[in-house]
Amino acid sequence: MALKGLENNDLKLIIFGGKGGVGKTSCAIATALTLSENFKTLLISTDPAHSVSDCLEQHIGFGVRQVSGHENLSAIEIVADEALSEFKKEHESELKRLLETSTNLDNQDIDELLTLSIPGIDEVMSFKIIIDFIEKGEYDKYVVDTAPTGHALRLISSPALLDEWIKVAARMRWKYRYLITSFSGNYKQDDVDVFLLSLKRTVKRIEAILRDISRCEFIPVLIPEAMAIMETKRLLADLGLSGIVPRQIIINNIMVSEGCGFCHTRKVAQLPYLQEIRSTFNTANVAEVPMFAEEVKGLEALDALKSFLF
Ligand SMILES: Nc1ncnc2c1ncn2[C@@H]1O[C@H](COP(=O)(O)OP(=O)(O)OP(=O)(O)O)[C@@H](O)[C@H]1O
Ligand SMILES: [Mg+2]
Repeated sequence: MALKGLENNDLKLIIFGGKGGVGKTSCAIATALTLSENFKTLLISTDPAHSVSDCLEQHIGFGVRQVSGHENLSAIEIVADEALSEFKKEHESELKRLLETSTNLDNQDIDELLTLSIPGIDEVMSFKIIIDFIEKGEYDKYVVDTAPTGHALRLISSPALLDEWIKVAARMRWKYRYLITSFSGNYKQDDVDVFLLSLKRTVKRIEAILRDISRCEFIPVLIPEAMAIMETKRLLADLGLSGIVPRQIIINNIMVSEGCGFCHTRKVAQLPYLQEIRSTFNTANVAEVPMFAEEVKGLEALDALKSFLF
């Protein structure tokens, strides 16, 4: 079976997730290459390991770059740290004013606080970049490669995290606003309020697309092994909590060759796991990919993978 429905015009965002090393990057790139035959496609890596460059054998980096030989395909590897410093630089005055007006911190404390990293902020920044791309609407399809499971889940839950942060900031602001209103009688919306409202809109935009099954699809990738199956079950349960139900999954690294004793043993060992996967995820379309003799590296190897996925 092959992947289905990715050509639907409404479908914009396709996210690949799964345990470490199961083939997310390979499948994301093969999908982006295939879609780019008919759609203007942007491949986005949110994985700090940035294996997209390695797999394509072309440097991509934190800037949109056309994939050589593929006019309709561009790629970017998001560097969350850099995205965060750009965001802080762009909104430095609002962030500082928020802290000045809502806390007793002095300037030095505020500067120190702004240099600290906030847990989960990486994923928030990555998703903000993705949503900004989607809203600019330059591409028809956005294919996202994520780092292993925990990261994909943090990415998905990033709007909720950002929302919590905004709520705390809004509560801090509310006290400030109350004071101003008590002393001067009126309060006018300032840059900080505008900034918080725009962040709130970002959260709403991300949540709206993630929960819209016509616009967004999450594709788990797994291999026929016990740990990958367990991790995928947990992934699906957690995705379900965010209202995301994958329509299809990819089983990668299926042993097909029986040519040697080792291959035969591996193939037999995979059989019960394949059966378990097919029965456990029986509501989803299942795309099956064999284990190739060589790694999936370079455009030729990706072509072979494409032929199994599509
Ligand atoms: N079907 C396959 N047959 C043979 N090798 C494969 C297959 N699929 C992927 N590989 C190879 O397995 C390795 C891991 O694949 P890939 O990088 O796509 O996984 P990943 O899930 O993105 O890993 P990570 O969690 O580290 O990001 C790579 O060397 C890739 O070339
Ligand atoms: Mg990867």
